[in-house]
Amino acid sequence: MAMATLGNTDKQAALKLRAAQRALELVESGMTVGLGSGSTATIWIKLLGEKVRDHGLKIRAIASSEDSERLGKSYGIPFVNFDECRSLDLTIDGADEVAPGLALIKGGGGKLLREKIVASASKRFVVVADESKQVEKLGRFPLPVEVIPMATPLVSDSLRELGFTPTIRVNRDGTRYITDEGNLILDCSGLLIEDPSGIAAKIDSMVGVVEHGLFLDMADLALIAGEQQVIERSS
Ligand code: A5P
Repeated sequence: MAMATLGNTDKQAALKLRAAQRALELVESGMTVGLGSGSTATIWIKLLGEKVRDHGLKIRAIASSEDSERLGKSYGIPFVNFDECRSLDLTIDGADEVAPGLALIKGGGGKLLREKIVASASKRFVVVADESKQVEKLGRFPLPVEVIPMATPLVSDSLRELGFTPTIRVNRDGTRYITDEGNLILDCSGLLIEDPSGIAAKIDSMVGVVEHGLFLDMADLALIAGEQQVIERSS
């Protein structure tokens, strides 16, 4: 179907698929690959899984979430851990915002901690996104900050002092969202981030913060899918 005739949701899904297809071209047999999380990464994992299951692609993987690992395993992708393998050849993951210099906000799906661990262990970290994720300044998407439950009120106060409005993330049923590591997420809205590295350093220094969703100087390449083409942006 022509892109112009699709509704917004279908169009976004088609763009995510395009970016994922392009990312698949970067995978070579023998690689150890990091699997991201979220809807775009999920599309990519399915494509990768089909290559493993149906076309004999030989890779090993480490996932950034239990959901992604479960999905990968359902296609027969073999998984390793950091005891067996310290470094990944390539990680493909989505992003909530992509700013100049490939500064990212991630963690909309709540998996930012493992995503950052996996990305930091990767020789090449490639972002897949549709063009709606591109921004001039980070911060319209609330910045997720993962916190130790006990420290949540203290960290919330410190984030408010920076100008954020933090809200504890909840599930659809109103219960608190718990990360794969048993922590809470504070979604921090209300501040367009002028100085990402300065803000990152301040949040890093707050006791009780486990990790935040600012991914700076980490991505090597972003594959941004638009209606006409997939644009490659490098850092
Ligand atoms: C998961 O925690 C996130 O970092 C995702 O990578 C990010 O939210 C992008 O997700 P979508 O691909 O679903 O937009």
